[in-house]
Amino acid sequence: MKEIQVNIDPERVTWRRDPRIYGHFIEHFHNQIYGGIYNPQSPLSDDEGFRTDVLEAWRRIQPPVVRWPGGCFVSAYHWTDGIGPERQPHFDKAWRVEDTNEFGTDEFIALCRKLDTEPYICTNAGTGTAEEMSDWVEYCNLRTEGKWAKRRIVNGSVEPHNVTYWSIGNENYLPGEMGAKTPAEWGRFVKESAKMMKRVDPSIELFAASVADLDWNIHLLREAGPFLDWLSIHGYWDPLWQNNRLSDYEACMLFSTRIEAQIEKTRHILGAMGYLGKIRVAFDEWNLRGWHHPNVDKAIDPKDYIEPRDLNDLDDTYTMADALFSACFFNQCLKHSDLIGMANYAPSVNTRGLIRTHEDGIVLRPTYHVFDMYVNGLGDQVVDSWIQGNAVFKVEQGKESVEVPVLDVIATIVEATGEVRIALVNRHPEDTVTALLKTRDGRRSVLSWQGLSGDDKNAYNDKNNPERVKPSAMTGWEADDQGIRITLPPHSVHIIGL
Ligand code: AHR
Repeated sequence: MKEIQVNIDPERVTWRRDPRIYGHFIEHFHNQIYGGIYNPQSPLSDDEGFRTDVLEAWRRIQPPVVRWPGGCFVSAYHWTDGIGPERQPHFDKAWRVEDTNEFGTDEFIALCRKLDTEPYICTNAGTGTAEEMSDWVEYCNLRTEGKWAKRRIVNGSVEPHNVTYWSIGNENYLPGEMGAKTPAEWGRFVKESAKMMKRVDPSIELFAASVADLDWNIHLLREAGPFLDWLSIHGYWDPLWQNNRLSDYEACMLFSTRIEAQIEKTRHILGAMGYLGKIRVAFDEWNLRGWHHPNVDKAIDPKDYIEPRDLNDLDDTYTMADALFSACFFNQCLKHSDLIGMANYAPSVNTRGLIRTHEDGIVLRPTYHVFDMYVNGLGDQVVDSWIQGNAVFKVEQGKESVEVPVLDVIATIVEATGEVRIALVNRHPEDTVTALLKTRDGRRSVLSWQGLSGDDKNAYNDKNNPERVKPSAMTGWEADDQGIRITLPPHSVHIIGL
């Protein structure tokens, strides 16, 4: 394969990276919470029921924010069922299971304090009301005024929880979501809810469920734009719920070239409505793989029912393809840092998550390592970078053959030291690539280099082989008067310091 030139201009700062793009999400879904992060029965849990091994791994990737409790789960969830000493189980109509309500608002806040992260609460805009949402703000944020702050104090939290981030709804544009709304209904509903929530605490930052769709946003922004700080959008590129099968590595690489289109569409909508620079965008659920839940499939017509492989719960579902996709996702968020201010990986623990629990410990999935590399490896300011003469490989899409660019790059500067840190992805499934790195100020040495490649494009980690995919220190670069040449193995992600 030919050499590919990567140019970096350390002087041209385009934006500051917002660490909230490395945010998280956990939902009452499968064993993300019960039997996952929260498991009072496990000998590995602390005296409040949280798995200490999960907490430790999670803290290493410095979660800036965690969104909870859903997801679709929230669209029929009444938060008052999950507080205080007397809790009755409820039937979770989204995922068709019983929820004990043991894990509620106070437990979520306790988790956030242990992780040293900001809580982000998503409210019920399906079957819930504006009043129920604003009562939740009262419970969390008022010091002593009113019955809900007093109830929190009785429940053991004298100090307010001080939750800054609140979202109105989750995917309420989907006909299958409980309490789904039309665009016109949505605009009015968000406005009324936002008014009440901000009356309780004007300092909160409000999100509203959105989608890259003009009609939806015209109604939403016309009615509620002045109250909103964020639009919440979701991205799942390989929807398991549609076909109960996984796309292969090559198709996933093709998906990774489509992230930007969704960002650009949202940018244009905000621009057209006059909100660019006023409202930022949170990808507050994202993952290459979309959810799959066998209990929900069972609700479909028996004649159409196929016994599902529960792809959510299989380790071999989450491979190097997921790792590379995640790196490309971050590269896009960093490139569009002026617009994308938050992103929440869906989810952090179990099912499709970064950290997988089992009885005796945890497995860190390849995606976890990408978080680790980006969070702990990249600098604080994004600087200009561009690829000259990128190579491509072909991916078959039905009857068509589509070209996927081989390299993907983002460059940053560590403010304190002036070191350039770049993230480079080699998407090629088989080929090693030589990249010629040229910085405008003529840097000639590699100061640090971490890579993640796996021994196969479909490599993954599981209980029996938990360290098959892990980052390692890389060597093998050369400098001459043209720049620095480095060799990148196939299907690999790198953080390189210059
Ligand atoms: O994670 C499962 C579901 O995926 C979430 O509940 C929903 O928001 C998304 O479609």
